[in-house]
Amino acid sequence: MATVSVVYHSGMGHTKAMAEAVAKGAGEVEGVKAELLAIDPADITDGRFTNNDILERIDASDGVIFGSPTYMGSVSGQMECFFDATAERWYKRAWVDKVGGAFTVSSGPSGDKFSTLVRMATLAMQHGMIWVGLDMIPGGEGLNRLSFYFGAGGQAGQEPPEEAPNEADKKTGEALGRRVAEVARKLKSV
Ligand SMILES: Cc1cc2nc3c(=O)[nH]c(=O)nc-3n(C[C@H](O)[C@H](O)[C@H](O)COP(=O)(O)O)c2cc1C
Repeated sequence: MATVSVVYHSGMGHTKAMAEAVAKGAGEVEGVKAELLAIDPADITDGRFTNNDILERIDASDGVIFGSPTYMGSVSGQMECFFDATAERWYKRAWVDKVGGAFTVSSGPSGDKFSTLVRMATLAMQHGMIWVGLDMIPGGEGLNRLSFYFGAGGQAGQEPPEEAPNEADKKTGEALGRRVAEVARKLKSV
C-alpha cells in the first residue's frame, strides 16, 4: 500500500475544498491510501511550525501533494512557516525520491498562481523529490480550464467554499491526485 499525503493550508476554506478533491482522486487509485494534513496556524509559535506529527506523517508517505492559497503571488505565510520547518529533513535527505505535486487556489484566473506552484515545486526539488505535473490539456466540462501544467489551479474569491472552486476545478484537482498516486504506487512496486 502506498500513502499519498495532501498537505495544505487554507485561510477561508477554498483551498481546503480543493485539497479534499485532490485527496479523493488520490484515494481512488487501487493500492493507495490518501490522507489530508492541514497546516493549522495554531501550530505556529513565534513564526515556527511545531507540529511534529505532520512532519512524521510525511516521512511515512510515498507521495506528497502540497496545497496553498495564492497570497500576494506566492504561498501563504503559514505554508512558508511549514516549509521552513522541513529544513532538518532536507539536511538528512529524508524526503529524497518521494513523489511530489501541488495545487493552488486564488481569485484571479491567473492571479499569479504559477509562481505559487513554482514555489512549492522548488521546495520539492530542494528535497530531491520527483515532481509530477498535470497531464491534461484544457478540455470538455471545463477540466483544466485555467491551463496549468505545473500542478492544478482553482479559482475562488469571496464566494463561500461550497460554491468555489467550481466542480471543473475540483475535478482537475482529482485528476492531479490520481496522477500523483499512480506514479507513487508504480515507484513503490519497482
Ligand atoms: C492576503 C491575501 C492575498 C491574496 N493574494 C492574491 C493574489 O496574489 N492573487 C489572487 O488571484 N488572489 C489573491 N488572494 C485571494 C485568495 O487567493 C482567494 O480568496 C483564495 O480563494 C483564498 O483561499 P483560502 O480560502 O484557502 O484561503 C489573496 C487573498 C488574501 C487574503
